[in-house]
Amino acid sequence: MSLLDVSNVSKSFSTGRDLLGRPKQRLPAVHDVSFTLDRGECLAVVGESGAGKSTLGRMVLRLIKPDTGRIMFDGVDVLRIGAAEMRRLRQRMQMIFQDPHSSLNPRMSVAEAVAEPLLVHTDLDRAARNRRAAELLDRVGIGRRYLGRYPAELSGGQLQRVALARALTLNPSLIVCDEPVAALDVSVRAQVLNLLRDLQEELGLAYLFVSHDLALVEVIADRVLVMAAGRVVEQGTVGQIFQEPTEEYTRRLLAAIPVPVPRDASGQRMLDATRS
Ligand SMILES: Nc1ncnc2c1ncn2[C@@H]1O[C@H](COP(=O)(O)OP(=O)(O)OP(=O)(O)O)[C@@H](O)[C@H]1O
Ligand SMILES: [Mg+2]
Repeated sequence: MSLLDVSNVSKSFSTGRDLLGRPKQRLPAVHDVSFTLDRGECLAVVGESGAGKSTLGRMVLRLIKPDTGRIMFDGVDVLRIGAAEMRRLRQRMQMIFQDPHSSLNPRMSVAEAVAEPLLVHTDLDRAARNRRAAELLDRVGIGRRYLGRYPAELSGGQLQRVALARALTLNPSLIVCDEPVAALDVSVRAQVLNLLRDLQEELGLAYLFVSHDLALVEVIADRVLVMAAGRVVEQGTVGQIFQEPTEEYTRRLLAAIPVPVPRDASGQRMLDATRS
């Protein structure tokens, strides 16, 4: 049994309202997408901007509810369970985002941010929580001396490591990584990627790894899901997709030269430089 088994999920968003307050139009963001992900495996989701990658990642964690389809996580039908069971399941599926500034609470110290999931989900006492936070900070390469710091005092790479430590607090088996290194300096990118790979191996983590950067995908992923306009164009192993893509769309993606895309503070693209 796969860790994650997604079948035929679709999601449409309505685009604003007309003068009478009726939703104008339902635009499909994700249409009839199916895939599986095994324990310890990394599946990359690639495709141009607006392809539906983030929507798909969020649906897997039930942060967005699909209109139709089924999502099985470790044999549990994620869309049919109640809130209490979902809370328990959430411990095992985590997400890290492109912009750690927005995913970490600026008023929480690093220690509080990393230990918070323990406060919410376990009855460990304060000392035990802090011990675990210290271990995790050591593990992600920041070091426990940063426990008392606040997000504003850390670099982007350090913040992403803190976000990762927080994601690891409850020993997840799946992490959805949505462009986790896209906002980082090129020099820091490789370090955070290496950390992700080491952790994957050490902890048997599975990643659903959303990325624009195909050079990076080739390094980190086992398999690749190519999306365009909400649909799966093709999927296969890294070898298949990179060496013998069957679809013209994939060939165009592969041919595009990766250019760093400038982002503003909220992580939005400042201009679309992804197309050559
Ligand atoms: N909350 C929302 N309300 C309305 N439309 C949305 C919402 N979220 C996403 N969409 C639309 O769904 C489509 C897919 O968006 P999504 O964010 O999943 O794309 P993406 O592949 O992650 O793009 P990017 O690479 O730019 O991050 C887009 O057309 C987007 O405008
Ligand atoms: Mg996205």
